[in-house]
Amino acid sequence: MAVHVAQHPLVKHKLGLLRKHDITTSLFRDVTKELARLLTYEATKDLQVEKKTIKGWAGEVEIERIKGKKITVVPILRAGLGMMDGVLDMVPGAKVSVVGFYRNEETLKPVKYYVKLASDIKARMALILDPMLATGGTLEATIDLLKQAGCTQIRGIFLVAAPEGIKRIQDKHPDVDIYCASVDERLNDKGYILPGLGDAGDKIFGTK
Ligand code: URA
Repeated sequence: MAVHVAQHPLVKHKLGLLRKHDITTSLFRDVTKELARLLTYEATKDLQVEKKTIKGWAGEVEIERIKGKKITVVPILRAGLGMMDGVLDMVPGAKVSVVGFYRNEETLKPVKYYVKLASDIKARMALILDPMLATGGTLEATIDLLKQAGCTQIRGIFLVAAPEGIKRIQDKHPDVDIYCASVDERLNDKGYILPGLGDAGDKIFGTK
C-alpha cells in the first residue's frame, strides 16, 4: 500500500486556507472542491494511455487517450459529497457510486444505511472520496463493500489523513492506495484529527 501526499505548492497553500478557524462555509466548500481537483490529478497520474490516429485540423495526427478501466467516484456520505464535483470536473465521464454509514453507538462499528453503486462497478476503478481519513473504520467498511461488489481496483482520496487510519487500511486492505494533501499528527480522544480541519461535514454543509 502506498500513501501519496501531494507536494504541489497549490495543494499546501489551499490546505492552509482550510485550517483557519474562522473560514466561511462558502470558502471551505470552494477550496475543498479545488483540492479535490488537484488530488484527482495526483490519483490518476499513472493511468495508462494508448495512441490513436485521428483527423486533426491539418490532417492526421497521433493523440493519446486513457485506456483501461473507467472510473467510478465513491463519495462517502455526507462529507464526501463536498469533493465530488471537483473530481467530476477532472473526470467528467465517471459514474457516481454513493455509500452512507452511521456509527452504532454501542458497538462503535459503522452500519451502512445507503448504497447505490454503478451497475458495472466490476469493470471500473473506484476513487473513494472523504475529506478526512480518521480512524479508518468507515473507509474499511466501504472497501469491504466495494470488494464484495466485485470491484478490484480501489483508491482513496482525502484532504487530511491520520496515521491511525492509514495503519488500519494498511493492515486490512494493503492493495488500496491513499492520496491526500497531508498526513497529520494524530486523533484526539473523540476521533478528530489533530491539527486537522475540525468537522469537515459541518464546514462544507454549514451546519455548525
Ligand atoms: N471527521 C471529521 O470531519 N473531522 C475529523 O477530524 C475526523 C473525522
